Amino acid sequence: MSALSISAPAKINLHLEVLGLRPDGYHELAMVMQSIDLHDSLEFQPTADASIRLHSDGPELPTDGSNLIVKAAELLRSRVGLPELGASCRLHKRIPIGAGLAGGSSDGAATLVGLDALWGLGLGKRRLQALAAELGSDVPFCLEGGTQLCFGRGERLEPVEQALAGERAALLLKHPDASVSTPWAYGRCRELRSDYYLDNEEDFEGRRQQLRQGPLLAALAGTGPLPPLRNDLQAVVAPEVESVRTGLELLRRQPGTLAVAMSGSGPSLFALYPDLASAEVARTGLAGTLEALGFEAWCCRCGGSGVSLVTA
Ligand code: C5P
Repeated sequence: MSALSISAPAKINLHLEVLGLRPDGYHELAMVMQSIDLHDSLEFQPTADASIRLHSDGPELPTDGSNLIVKAAELLRSRVGLPELGASCRLHKRIPIGAGLAGGSSDGAATLVGLDALWGLGLGKRRLQALAAELGSDVPFCLEGGTQLCFGRGERLEPVEQALAGERAALLLKHPDASVSTPWAYGRCRELRSDYYLDNEEDFEGRRQQLRQGPLLAALAGTGPLPPLRNDLQAVVAPEVESVRTGLELLRRQPGTLAVAMSGSGPSLFALYPDLASAEVARTGLAGTLEALGFEAWCCRCGGSGVSLVTA
């Protein structure tokens, strides 16, 4: 059988609100996640010896059982009860690692879709979504993509109509020396903010409803201006990570910027622009400063879909 290619897009958080703690120890969240067109590429081929192998062009990435690609492959084959299935995956990594852009989660989602097709399992969206939620809180979003409200741990999705999807663009910044562990960021949030956590479903639902009916969703529907973006983890990560503070300040000062925030648990930052050309202008305006401070920068379009099969 010939190789199968999958595109695995990154995401940014247009909203990340920590509502409270759940009985399972995770945080109850209310988020708006947005796919962007910065993506990893994965190529899958069957193996004859039932092995699961991963080759990555990013040397810093583990390729053993700790990688979500390997975890997703093992989970899929054990759930369908076919241990004789094997696959090798070549990963072309473009999404920065440990950045809050769901690169690992998107690779995991791509593996579910890729191997479902390669192994001819025909599991369908609902079963793949259930496996995605087992792999990680952001994996269901990565499978679906686009613009979604994400509730629960992040796995409960509600699609959002995005009038300007495909036009709106982001300038992303990340300092290569900075990396934030997601469990650390949530742990720190709990230390600093748990006195303010809500603690019952009625209050959680009240906040979800405020988000559904609030100014961010109106702006995405094209019926209002973009409000300041909220990321509760930004408030706990920024004091600890200098490049987050510096990057946010640089982006805020750029003319034409619609809104600025950290993505997920960071440390990547983004600014939104009406279109890709405006994001490129901002990057050019900042080029000297970014180089002097050692930031990496990407311009990308918002919108699109989640992981998808690449047809030749
Ligand atoms: O689900 P995932 O493995 O991506 O989560 C990584 C870690 O982030 C969890 O172990 C937990 O510490 C934290 N987390 C959380 N609440 C969420 C999602 C993640 O506390 N809703």
